[in-house]
Amino acid sequence: MPATEPKPAMSQSALALQHFADLDDADCEARIRTAREALGDRVVILGHHYQREEVFRHADHAGDSLKLSRMAAESNAEFIVFCGVHFMAEVADILSRPEQTAILPDMAAGCSMADMANLAKVERAWRELGRVLDVEQSVTPVTYINSAADLKAFCGRHGGSVCTSSNARQILDWSFARRDKILFFPDQHLGRNTGHAMGIPLEQMVTWDFDKPLGGLTEQQIRDARMILWKGFCSVHQMFLPEHVDRFRAEHPDGKVISHPECSFEVCQKSDVVGSTETIIRTVKASPSGSRWLVGTELNLVNRLHREVQAEGKVAEFMSPTVCMCSTMFRIDPQHLAWVLESLVAGDAVNRVQVPVEEAAQARTALERMLAASP
Ligand code: 13P
Ligand code: SF4
Repeated sequence: MPATEPKPAMSQSALALQHFADLDDADCEARIRTAREALGDRVVILGHHYQREEVFRHADHAGDSLKLSRMAAESNAEFIVFCGVHFMAEVADILSRPEQTAILPDMAAGCSMADMANLAKVERAWRELGRVLDVEQSVTPVTYINSAADLKAFCGRHGGSVCTSSNARQILDWSFARRDKILFFPDQHLGRNTGHAMGIPLEQMVTWDFDKPLGGLTEQQIRDARMILWKGFCSVHQMFLPEHVDRFRAEHPDGKVISHPECSFEVCQKSDVVGSTETIIRTVKASPSGSRWLVGTELNLVNRLHREVQAEGKVAEFMSPTVCMCSTMFRIDPQHLAWVLESLVAGDAVNRVQVPVEEAAQARTALERMLAASP
């Protein structure tokens, strides 16, 4: 830009965010509390278990993706502030009433796994599968909730559904009751771990490489498959390795291992329990005092869980020797939370997440199928 050309004016909100970015956590803490008081029950704050402590403590409700989806659907608050990642705020917008507003404190809080599938690639896969199979009759598309709203809408349009890590089994049962095969995206691991637990042989679960024609598969492999698994994964959970479990078991023969189903098949096979973030927390808390757990999920959750159970002589140990946390969840900080809440007090709903109406209606169809089939 030439030096003489005036810079574009910064919006009021952008100016305000810059001001908050300079505040320290203690100042933000006080301002969050004051803004909350001023807003009363006009606002509800939902917090995923992976949120950092300074944010998590302000959540009215904490949970895994399924629990928080239900909270969003049941809430009467005018503003739903979602301390999580973008797809979660989209689900809150889709499941809430039109007069409610979903807010994500930092719009850059995405999910790298969700980004591994997009509508163009899924539609191409659907077309290519359609050259081998009668897809509308024989394949149910199922998207993990960790996906953009347009992929949920795709599932809504094509007789499919959404699943989370805590209801994947029920949704696969629902899907197989309707059609023979499932196209599962974007997380291959959740699909494979759940399919295997249901008794589907590994060779009947093929991996669809979205960068290759026909997913890198032969027509025969597609005809023989029961599950076609998108080649996506979570960059956090792929850090956990079978040797981490082996080392723990050698050092602590009485210890137990619990993993999230986004972990690899090999890690899940070596685990005593596999389940959602909510299941992990519930299981460790319900275990006898003195129990020692190796936990294969995100660091903020494991550290908090350890602090909560250590008084009972329990240990919750992080599975990887290297620090790996969800960097996008970490984007939600007290500065952004204070900013969105004070903006609401001032009458400005910043960082609103709004799914286009038609897309939201189709995505809602898929989400409602999921909620109806969930325990
Ligand atoms: P949960 O639904 O188990 O909380 O998992 C969400 C997630 O993104 C895990 O990485
Ligand atoms: Fe996405 Fe993985 Fe972060 Fe979960 S932990 S939100 S799947 S990047």
